[in-house]
Amino acid sequence: MELGLDIVEIERVRKLGKSAPRFLSRVFTPAEIAYCRGKKNPWQHFAVRFAAKEAVWKALDRDGISLKDISVSRDSRGKPGVLLKGRRASGLKLSLSHSDHYAVAVAVKA
Ligand SMILES: CC(C)(COP(=O)(O)OP(=O)(O)OC[C@H]1O[C@@H](n2cnc3c(N)ncnc32)[C@H](O)[C@@H]1OP(=O)(O)O)[C@@H](O)C(=O)NCCC(=O)NCCS
Repeated sequence: MELGLDIVEIERVRKLGKSAPRFLSRVFTPAEIAYCRGKKNPWQHFAVRFAAKEAVWKALDRDGISLKDISVSRDSRGKPGVLLKGRRASGLKLSLSHSDHYAVAVAVKA
């Protein structure tokens, strides 16, 4: 079993997203961008997905995977799942949380 954890300052992601909009399309999939943009405060959702990508990347511990290859899906109850290059990665589990200032993610690889 492998574990990955990441913490992200929401303000850092907001500044990056505002000053360099290409950052968003470089890191997030169109589905993730649409989900976050649809929220009242998009930046906490972008930030937690950024944390999720880094956490999964750490749990995978292998080269050749970009942050955009890793994306976060949601089931009908809102529970997050992992997609690798758009395909469901059932061996990877994810848990996300965000407060006003920080977003955290933990990933477990079976
Ligand atoms: C789903 C729930 C756990 C989210 O908790 P929260 O404190 O509101 O929000 P957090 O910042 O910790 O987590 C948000 C993330 O949880 C994840 N999440 C949402 N629904 C989930 C579920 N059913 N299972 C697991 N994770 C879930 C999502 O990834 C979400 O991120 P997103 O909004 O960017 O998609 C919470 O709303 C809930 O239903 N709790 C049930 C217990 C309860 O009623 N407690 C109230 C006690 S006062």
